[in-house]
Amino acid sequence: MKVVAMVGSPSVNSINKKLGRFVKERYVDKFDIEFLEIEKLPFHNYDIENNPPELILSMREKIKDADGVLFITPEYNYSVPPVLKNAIDWFSRVEQVLMYKPAMIMGASPGRMGTVRAQNHLKDILTGPGTTMHVCPNNEVILGGFTKLLDGEGNLVDERTISFIDKAMERYSEWVEEVNRIDL
Ligand SMILES: Cc1cc2nc3c(=O)[nH]c(=O)nc-3n(C[C@H](O)[C@H](O)[C@H](O)COP(=O)(O)O)c2cc1C
Repeated sequence: MKVVAMVGSPSVNSINKKLGRFVKERYVDKFDIEFLEIEKLPFHNYDIENNPPELILSMREKIKDADGVLFITPEYNYSVPPVLKNAIDWFSRVEQVLMYKPAMIMGASPGRMGTVRAQNHLKDILTGPGTTMHVCPNNEVILGGFTKLLDGEGNLVDERTISFIDKAMERYSEWVEEVNRIDL
């Protein structure tokens, strides 16, 4: 199944990007995951929304083509980082391409709370009138203390965490199938 992914961190050293790379590689047999470079988007602005940059148009097409959308995000000040909120704002306007897509949320932080507050905000955002996504229920991937789970090269190596993510991705694949079957 085709999934587009958005990572809420613009940093090249992002632990959430590391998590994203892990997910893309490990589940390649089931998911074809493409990352959208949302940090390259300008701020949403009414003045340009009807004549948006090419990047918006091409990302909209990728989202339309996808069976589901994966959000991998850090927490900034108890909430969703601006890079991710901005992308969602764009995709909620003019062409509401996120609507009814099956979504999955995951997040990693060095701290203990593992992005739980950001994920709660994100769930609200994804169910607003311009988004109306089907967020996979009872399938939270909240990864605190994440830096300790990586090896020296930044690869996720903690077996318990890996098998937890295996189960979450399996549940998400069932959710994608179910939502797309019902919405057909
Ligand atoms: C502006 C800002 C606000 C932050 N606020 C929080 C926070 O509320 N909770 C938290 O656990 N970590 C917070 N952090 C720390 C990030 O979770 C941490 O730097 C994380 O590694 C960022 O994710 P990334 O490595 O994927 O970029 C914040 C970092 C920044 C830059």
